[in-house]
Amino acid sequence: GKRIAVMTSGGDSPGMNGAVRAVVRQTLASGGVAYAVYEGYQGLVDGGSMIKEMRWEDVRGWLSEGGTLIGTARCKAFMERPGRLTAANNMIEKGINALIICGGDGSLTGADKFRSEWPSLMDELVSTGKRKEDEVKHHRHLNIVGLVGSIDNDLSGTDATIGCYSSLERICQSIDYIDATAFSHQRAFVIEVMGRHCGWLALMAGVSCGADFVFCPENPPSENWESEMCNIIKKHREMGKRKTIVVVAEGAHDRQLNHISPTMVKDLLSEKVGLDTRVTTLGHVQRGGPPCAYDRMLATLQGVEAVKAVLESTPETPSPVICIVENKIVRKPLVDAIARTKEVAANIAKKDFEAALKGRDAE
Ligand code: F6P
Repeated sequence: GKRIAVMTSGGDSPGMNGAVRAVVRQTLASGGVAYAVYEGYQGLVDGGSMIKEMRWEDVRGWLSEGGTLIGTARCKAFMERPGRLTAANNMIEKGINALIICGGDGSLTGADKFRSEWPSLMDELVSTGKRKEDEVKHHRHLNIVGLVGSIDNDLSGTDATIGCYSSLERICQSIDYIDATAFSHQRAFVIEVMGRHCGWLALMAGVSCGADFVFCPENPPSENWESEMCNIIKKHREMGKRKTIVVVAEGAHDRQLNHISPTMVKDLLSEKVGLDTRVTTLGHVQRGGPPCAYDRMLATLQGVEAVKAVLESTPETPSPVICIVENKIVRKPLVDAIARTKEVAANIAKKDFEAALKGRDAE
């Protein structure tokens, strides 16, 4: 049987525990041995008790838990080759030949680099006398499978990342809470939401909550957005609305790539529209808390698929990332998905927003 390790990396997201649970149990069900790597890549570098064999009951009750129970970290040591060499050695120690990583695009890029470097890492372990040739014999090929765990929903090629719907739900509830007090005082609220360079959370929250205006990075507002926004909000007030909600993605900017901050928006609403305005930065409440049903389901189906991908892979198969496209769980080449994601960012940097939007939607 295969010896499959699972790890969570980068920012935590709701549903990661469900993914770990599914990987562990599917591995055991297919006759393999399951390991969990604690504290992300740091655990892989530290080895020892940080790489723990997992039994069926070890993941009991994990489906509904928020965050990641096996921990996560942004690891510097793994960015350098010596760190990766130590990590490889620790994996040989436990006989692990496959690694399933649940994380964002940065973590998955690191994973693919690890795989392409793997044969040379094996050579180095042998040539430096750390391992004997017959010890690495069965480890000439490393299997890597990616699961996308992020609240940002920022990976091209998948409709949803594990965690994004829980986060959206939390944002929606928070805005509902704010709505009540906004209505009471006839106030305006500028709400900053997470998403890093991606506007998915902001846009979907705007749609779900009936926001008056939304700022998101892929589709920056027109040159005269200041008066445009003020006019729209004035109009909504004239129509009898007692409250104003403006959602600002944390990565929002104008067409010249100048950051649009919640404070800038607040000042406009107070000074130009005359509204009593407050800023609310939702922060990490958007990332914590129990996963919604959709994320539990996505994590479970994708975790199972990740183990299947490991079992079916050959040295020639490119590392896959498990996606969901039109409600179907599919495998795609990891490098392609990351390359397309980077393309969107590059188009934004070039101020080609049309191309960025197309890339974001592209299959
Ligand atoms: O990628 C998830 C995310 O929550 C982003 O939305 C946000 O920009 C970032 O992580 C915050 O990172 P940290 O938790 O390290 O402050």
